[in-house]
Amino acid sequence: MKQTILSGIQPSGILTLGNYLGALRNWVAIQNDYDCKYFIADLHSITVTQDPKTLHENIKKTVMQYLACGLDPDKNTIFIQSHVHEHAELGWILNNSTYMGEMERMTQFKDKSAKQKKDSVRVGLFDYPVLMAADILLYDADLVPVGEDQRQHLEITRTIARRFNSQYGDIFKIPEGYISEAGARIMSLQDPSKKMSKSDSNPNAYISLLDAKDVIIKKFKKAVTDSENVVRYSSEQPGVQNLINIYSCITGKTATEVEKEFEGAGYGTFKVTVGEAVADTLAMIQAKYEELNSPENEDFLKDVYAKGAERARLLATPKLRQVYEAVGFIV
Ligand code: TYM
Repeated sequence: MKQTILSGIQPSGILTLGNYLGALRNWVAIQNDYDCKYFIADLHSITVTQDPKTLHENIKKTVMQYLACGLDPDKNTIFIQSHVHEHAELGWILNNSTYMGEMERMTQFKDKSAKQKKDSVRVGLFDYPVLMAADILLYDADLVPVGEDQRQHLEITRTIARRFNSQYGDIFKIPEGYISEAGARIMSLQDPSKKMSKSDSNPNAYISLLDAKDVIIKKFKKAVTDSENVVRYSSEQPGVQNLINIYSCITGKTATEVEKEFEGAGYGTFKVTVGEAVADTLAMIQAKYEELNSPENEDFLKDVYAKGAERARLLATPKLRQVYEAVGFIV
């Protein structure tokens, strides 16, 4: 029997090159080898302010981006998180196997809440890793392919699962992270100490999967580097290091090969070459996206996520029932 893979992305905007290299590209690569469940994490996305109309569109666009990146709806279970109500219900149960202090230590919560006024930070944002644990444990996932920024959330998922199991019996499988070296941490083009994020207020900081070629090249030209003017893979040159990482991911070349390729060349040439390589890769995704993004395809898309939710429920419903029984509810 194939092992179960589960992962999701928040529909909080058009996906970025970070989401693609850190997650989606790897999902596509493993779709034949595992039983894969990939969802659109809409429940997670409202932990920060969303405009309802834009969110509605972004959910559909995220489904299309999953397919455009190469996920096959016949091979994978592709669904929308809120269509499977068991996620939220299990989240509530798991809130009671989680401690406040554990949530307070989550770096993503600390980072995101620091950007907001103290008295308007939502409880949902604080509690979000518990919902993420529910997403994973509901399907007895073996492996969770994510970028480096989610490592701490996976650790807390394992802690919660172990704690629940020790109180109520052997209910949950303890999942493992699946974080590939390459692409696990794509940084902002404007501040290489921060990860590339679709919610960055400066659009020059990220490459969106749907950016046009000229926009992509312009953003790479503006990417923050340093005054060394030497293409070297070194933590002392974090901006250049990030661009080398991106170029390596796209071309499959090692960092040493990239250094050789650009020996003696200035940053100008390097940045444009990286931009073109990224634009060429995204052009294929964009062409598929445009094909999907037409009114004739609406029914097809609905069918994809409706069938996905149906398949997801086949596992989620009995699992939640098992949990309810274990805690003593009348089912
Ligand atoms: P999200 O929507 O922030 O990101 C989706 C995926 O993209 C990866 N990623 C990156 N990888 C490399 N470099 C970057 N700059 C970068 N930015 C994002 C993330 O690591 C992630 O794999 N909490 C999750 C969504 C989620 C989830 C889950 C994931 C909810 N429930 C259960 C796995 C399993 C999130 O906010 O991802």
